[in-house]
Amino acid sequence: MTRHVASVELDRLLDLARDIALEAAEFAAEARRGGVEVAATKSTPTDIVTAVDRDTESLIRERILAARPDDGILGEEGAERFGTSGLTWVVDPIDGTVNFLYGAPSWAVSIAVVEEPAEPSSWRALVGIVVNPSNGEVYEARAGGGARLGSTALHVTTGVPLGRALVGTGFGYAAEVRREQAAVLLALLPQVRDVRRNGSAALELCGVAAGRLDAFYEHGLSPWDHAAAALIVREAGARVGGARGGAEGAELVLAAAPGLYEELESALAAAGAWA
Ligand code: IPD
Ligand code: CA
Repeated sequence: MTRHVASVELDRLLDLARDIALEAAEFAAEARRGGVEVAATKSTPTDIVTAVDRDTESLIRERILAARPDDGILGEEGAERFGTSGLTWVVDPIDGTVNFLYGAPSWAVSIAVVEEPAEPSSWRALVGIVVNPSNGEVYEARAGGGARLGSTALHVTTGVPLGRALVGTGFGYAAEVRREQAAVLLALLPQVRDVRRNGSAALELCGVAAGRLDAFYEHGLSPWDHAAAALIVREAGARVGGARGGAEGAELVLAAAPGLYEELESALAAAGAWA
């Protein structure tokens, strides 16, 4: 059941999430300067985790528990804790781990607080923060309070037809999933201005919020990839949803201004995106 969270509590949550994300970003960036190696592989040989992903998630978890011991936590590197407050922190310590490994500047710390259930199709995101330590950009939003990049209010592009849309997307780690994603892309690419793939779904969704992309879609994302950034792009004016008119989730995360959203949704359906 959705409980009412007062505006002042949202502000406090956002302040705390920002403090934790900035500390985690500094920690991970400092560790990166010392060099990084693959610690293990996850779902496939190319789905990697570094010790820094794990250590950064541990730091975030410690900070959350110290400040809000009754909240739940859901993290990419295994942090899972059921809380009693009705609120869950959804954490991606490093989104764009492959970029992080290669020293490419597109990776981010992503933290959201959602009202349970901790499942994207039914949660209500309350606050979201995405920090790119490589350029110091801090994207944030709170439910009903708009989205910002630093102190600048964010707004998605509007009035862009599909044929002139710059569309961000991404690919999963499993070969068979990629084959399907490539087939969809093959059909979509001739219909749009161009496509970008930067390797961090969180930053690409924030890119839509900032008007650097007109739209973003990806099949197969995990909740921590999009929890914070979906709120940010929604608060910047995007429609955000998933497959067959439903909520965003593992099948599809789609974000764009209304109008372009529906055009892209139809094009993806026609390309067999959720056949
Ligand atoms: C990945 C990134 C990437 C997306 C993948 C995600 P990770 O997250 O967001 O852009 O295409 O689907 O898994 O593994 O770097 O945390
Ligand atoms: Ca991720």
